[in-house]
Amino acid sequence: MDATLIKTVNKLQDAFATVGVQNPVDLPQIVVIGAQSSGKSSVLENIVGRDFLPRGTGIVTRRPLILQLINRPVPGVKPNGVADETKLANGDAKEETEESDKDAAAPDAANKEPTEWGEFLHLPGVKFADFNKIREEIIKDTEAKTGRNAGISPQPINLRIFSPNVLTLTLVDLPGLTKVPVGDQPKDIERQIREMIIKYITKPNAIILAVTAANTDLANSDGLKLAREVDPEGARTIGVLTKVDLMDQGTDVVDILAGRIIPLRLGYVPVVNRGQRDIDTNKTISKALDAEKAFFENHSAYRSKAQYCGTPFLARKLNMILMHHIRNTLPEIKSKIQAALIKYQQELQTLGDPMDDGSSGSQANLVLNIITEFTNEFRTVIDGNSNDLS
Ligand code: GDP
Ligand code: NA
Ligand code: MG
Repeated sequence: MDATLIKTVNKLQDAFATVGVQNPVDLPQIVVIGAQSSGKSSVLENIVGRDFLPRGTGIVTRRPLILQLINRPVPGVKPNGVADETKLANGDAKEETEESDKDAAAPDAANKEPTEWGEFLHLPGVKFADFNKIREEIIKDTEAKTGRNAGISPQPINLRIFSPNVLTLTLVDLPGLTKVPVGDQPKDIERQIREMIIKYITKPNAIILAVTAANTDLANSDGLKLAREVDPEGARTIGVLTKVDLMDQGTDVVDILAGRIIPLRLGYVPVVNRGQRDIDTNKTISKALDAEKAFFENHSAYRSKAQYCGTPFLARKLNMILMHHIRNTLPEIKSKIQAALIKYQQELQTLGDPMDDGSSGSQANLVLNIITEFTNEFRTVIDGNSNDLS
């Protein structure tokens, strides 16, 4: 039920992007921010459970990546709501991930659909079952729009990932905050990145994932500082502490988790991602998630709260926050869709016969159809959720 709600929001978002119409509805998104190399892309990959993002030292992420994760059960396996999500969230789906790696390697041999794949908005209809190819395409399209030097562009890359192993979420990966221009980067690169980030997190319906490396000082966290500018109450900011494994012996993040340093209403989640060496030696994500689990369960400071640590807990928490957020903003989204519907209906009438192909009316007609369809779908979803909408 809840997944349906988020799916509908995702579809609506895609529809507007496809027809090139200014989206009248600011849809909730989870926006990942933080200093360069704090581990933003690594956190996203762990949430998805697959390797597909360019990662590493230096400014690797140079355009916004709008990533829609869509939970899609394996055909023939009956989706069963809550049980499904529990299974996803606690990482039991690991074996499936490895199996589907094999599937992806030989999709045609068995002549069956891949169980997990990605699709770019700029390459409609092309299914990427090989996640290495997704990374290559991100790099290729980044370079196409920004050049090979370390320039950045605010033009987003839109990617959807369909998988039985993800929770339905929309995430935005952004370039990290950087202080010093390198190579032939523009002198004002810091300002450019800042503006790009501010644009995404200012929207009152953005949920901010502020990533800070645990081996750096929280008080100097670029992500938290920016988040505070647009969300001073900390009402829609969630703290993620990466590199907990790299902290000095005898130090830990317990005081931060307890809200004794910089309190956040939505709290902090500590995680352990793969280090550069793990990446260089091709350590799989499922191995990394096992290692992360073992790290928190065996660490004297975290053992008693291990269930509130790590990537699976973060993914669950995000899904819940997103759901609550959508529910709270549903009345507003609904009235905006209705306003858009009226506007397009009026435009359509002034354009004359909607069946007249080739005229400028067909574009407007397409928009109208899409909005009508999604308004209806929205109503169904809203009605279905009416008990929870108090
Ligand atoms: P981004 O620039 O914020 O997107 O950071 P990346 O995800 O690209 O990570 C930057 C570097 O930090 C990479 O070499 C990662 O392997 C490493 N890294 C990220 N998170 C962790 C972590 O939790 N532990 C360790 N040891 N290394 C990490
Ligand atoms: Na990086
Ligand atoms: Mg990155």
